[in-house]
Amino acid sequence: MDRFVVRAGRPLEGEVTVSGAKNAALKQMAASLLARGRTVLRNVPEIADVAVMAEVLEAIGATVTRPEPAVLLIDVPDEIVPEAPYDLVTRMRASINVLGPLLGRCGRARVALPGGDNIGRRKLDMHFRGLEAMGASFVRRHGFIEATTPGLIGARTVLDFPSVGATENILTAAVLAEGTTIIENAAREPEIVDLAEFLIRMGATILGAGSPTITVVGVSELTPIEHEVVGDRIEAGTFLMACGIAGGEVEINGTRLEHLDLVVMKLGEMGLKVSPTAHGLWARSDGRLSAVDIATLPFPGFGTDFMPLAVTLLAVAQGTAIVTENVFDGRFGFVDELLRLGADIHTEGRHAVVRGVDRLSGAPVRALDVRAGAALVLAGLAADGETVVHDPYHVDRGYVNLAAKLASLGADVHRTTSP
Ligand code: UD1
Repeated sequence: MDRFVVRAGRPLEGEVTVSGAKNAALKQMAASLLARGRTVLRNVPEIADVAVMAEVLEAIGATVTRPEPAVLLIDVPDEIVPEAPYDLVTRMRASINVLGPLLGRCGRARVALPGGDNIGRRKLDMHFRGLEAMGASFVRRHGFIEATTPGLIGARTVLDFPSVGATENILTAAVLAEGTTIIENAAREPEIVDLAEFLIRMGATILGAGSPTITVVGVSELTPIEHEVVGDRIEAGTFLMACGIAGGEVEINGTRLEHLDLVVMKLGEMGLKVSPTAHGLWARSDGRLSAVDIATLPFPGFGTDFMPLAVTLLAVAQGTAIVTENVFDGRFGFVDELLRLGADIHTEGRHAVVRGVDRLSGAPVRALDVRAGAALVLAGLAADGETVVHDPYHVDRGYVNLAAKLASLGADVHRTTSP
């Protein structure tokens, strides 16, 4: 059976390079549908979710090849089929990101509705409202959302919440719309900025990406380009937390401090030393860290994707912390697995009270989603005996060789694969 097997060992030491960001690569793959011809994406992580998005693009009519591990060639023909099938959308919610590009390019789209997932209810109302303001109509039929428009016209949308997915779908629809679109209360994540840079280089006119107001002036056509995907800040944060949990001194290449400001600040308050290097970050932990309270928020706040990793770090820190999850409902499911490892955590709605313990105690546990799974692997670094993390495929969705990369820093981690 596939699983991660982890034992606590010596402090981490050495250098590791993060891969391209999953949440940037997937969106750029979807946006490549906006232009006929060949898009070349570099620094694309070799992960399961990228493979699913490649299948989505192929179902739509594109050809996707990977001549080298980190390079993706996407050939988009003149004629495409604007439909994302159910089996792919249920395997990966981010498939919904083809909606904006398909509407922009074809004036219609049929995308299966994703169900719920392990981090709670995830609505799409803001995606639809933003696109409706631009002249799209939506009908739900047989588990699909069917969108049509006689032609998208730029409009002003105020998002209730800076949703990453809604900002991306509206942005990728607006680039080929007629006139000016303004997205207020837009998400500001570095992956949005990378997507905007990708689109601008294709010929789009976009101002303000990375700020709460994005202005898009529609153009009639885009040209495919070559682009290097931004480094994965969440993977970088995972190695920072690993250093905090196992101790040691690491260099993390391929990321930028400004993408991790608040995470670094919180880890600094806990006692982890972090500073920027020419290629990324350096971090050192000189002993057990101290608890601090954390509340997740959209970027530049403390990202929700770091939360399960931070809870694990706090589970072995000195003192008690309150962790508040403000972005998703039901993202504390993984806490039950940490309890199996001897953590002392009490959850109540959006809050978790984490009382640090000296050591965890190795046990079999189960990965529930990508970040929760990574968090359990890290927990094993501070657990006596052996921690076995089942369902590692959740982790494979978002990490390129997490076990091998941790092992290269001296951690006792490996992933077994069934024949
Ligand atoms: C993306 C990331 C995910 C990250 C999240 C927040 C990808 C593939 N996934 O997810 O890793 O945790 O951003 O940083 O990039 N919401 C609504 N209505 C909507 C849209 C969202 O109510 O129309 C709510 C969601 O239910 C959730 C919150 O807004 O509670 C944030 O969601 P959103 O920012 O859209 O996250 P995703 O784009 O799904």
